[in-house]
Amino acid sequence: MEEKRSSFSGKIGFVLAAAGSAVGLGNIWRFPYLAAKYGGGIFLLVYIALAVTFGFSLMVAEIAIGRKTKLSPIGAFRALNKKFSFIGVLAAVVPAIILPYYSVIGGWVMKYIAGFVTGQGSAMANDSYFGNYIGSSVEPIVWFALFMAITAIIVIFGVNKGVEKVSKVMMPILVVFVIFIAIYSMIAVDGAWEGVIYYIKPDFSKFSIMTVVAAMGQLFYSMSLAMGIMITFGSYMKKDISIEKSTHQIEIFDSGIAFLSGLMIIPAVFAFGGEEALSASGPSLMFVTLPKIFDIMPGGAFIGAMFFIMVFFAALTSSISLMETVVSTVLDKVNINRRLCCIFVFLFCMVLGTVSSLGYSAWSGVKILGMQLLDFFDFASNSVLMPIVALATCIFVGYFLKPQTLIDELELSAPFKQKKMFSIVIKYFAPVCILVILISSVLSAFGVIKI
Ligand code: PHE
Repeated sequence: MEEKRSSFSGKIGFVLAAAGSAVGLGNIWRFPYLAAKYGGGIFLLVYIALAVTFGFSLMVAEIAIGRKTKLSPIGAFRALNKKFSFIGVLAAVVPAIILPYYSVIGGWVMKYIAGFVTGQGSAMANDSYFGNYIGSSVEPIVWFALFMAITAIIVIFGVNKGVEKVSKVMMPILVVFVIFIAIYSMIAVDGAWEGVIYYIKPDFSKFSIMTVVAAMGQLFYSMSLAMGIMITFGSYMKKDISIEKSTHQIEIFDSGIAFLSGLMIIPAVFAFGGEEALSASGPSLMFVTLPKIFDIMPGGAFIGAMFFIMVFFAALTSSISLMETVVSTVLDKVNINRRLCCIFVFLFCMVLGTVSSLGYSAWSGVKILGMQLLDFFDFASNSVLMPIVALATCIFVGYFLKPQTLIDELELSAPFKQKKMFSIVIKYFAPVCILVILISSVLSAFGVIKI
């Protein structure tokens, strides 16, 4: 007998779970850096303009595909058109690649929480601390296993009692923490105001086509597009909830947290080391530069702990969405129970994640295309597979399925105000944007250009 598909209890549950997926490490360690580098306010404007057109349309399309078919990516594309089921397969591969290494980073975050809570903040401010830590073979794997286990346990609880409940608790706390830290660091750090201006004031001399390219790539990753997540979450959405309004709310949440992360980080880093200190993004910003700032900031031990707890929430709600997508894809195809499925996925991730973790220690000599293992997984999924999935989705929806099919799905709940724009973006604008993302991210991975 077929089991009834679970669904989010209402709009808030859906929006918070989707926002939980969207708000992740990318908002915290990449957005502020890109904004500072590509002209401050002008980057923010370009980002918002793209979010309400390009990002909006892609997200609406994915959610509608999920809700229409009530299936996760593989089944969803097959149900719409057999010839295009390959898109679903590719989309389903992405979260399976990302989840293990994303959780390795989740493990690093937990280690830093433990460090701040046990008063080792100063040790962590040491230049070599982070390198030594990820260079050790065993400890990062233990923290990774713990992060992975927490993710798996939440997913075992299912859509309502797991994903939705956790998002409803963690996302509001996350917002409060980000606002608090942003205000505190602007007040407590001397010279932070100059940094605020540096972050917000448009600097046209830094504007170039790369501003647009960087904003596009960031938006795409930040909204958790092209990895089957929004299709899966859409499949749990009730028919009477407005997809259009929900998407706007998810976007406001995601961009709002990205902007606030900038206020939390840029002024403090700027006051600490000027423009030069801002040239680091990603792990070195979060795990090397910030602990140094917490070390000298008044009350820094407390703020440091708070910061890493907030990052943990952001990373955990993202990893849950990844795992839910993988599990739901398997459950659509294979007749096993959720718990067993989660255990299999957990074990699979343990193997792949251990490999990427060892890429920094025992296996640091192993390189693929000149990249460390974790970087390679990141490259394969974010820079290659995701743009391909997104491009294929746009071509499929724009020219085969036809935008009207999805517009009809949206209009089951409410009139779709922006349907004209949606069709135009999916058919013409988005494919061009995605091609630009694909080309630029491959070029940047090989060092031809720098984003
Ligand atoms: N959107 C997340 C971020 O901004 C990234 C993410 C990747 C989320 C993979 C889920 C899965 O960091």
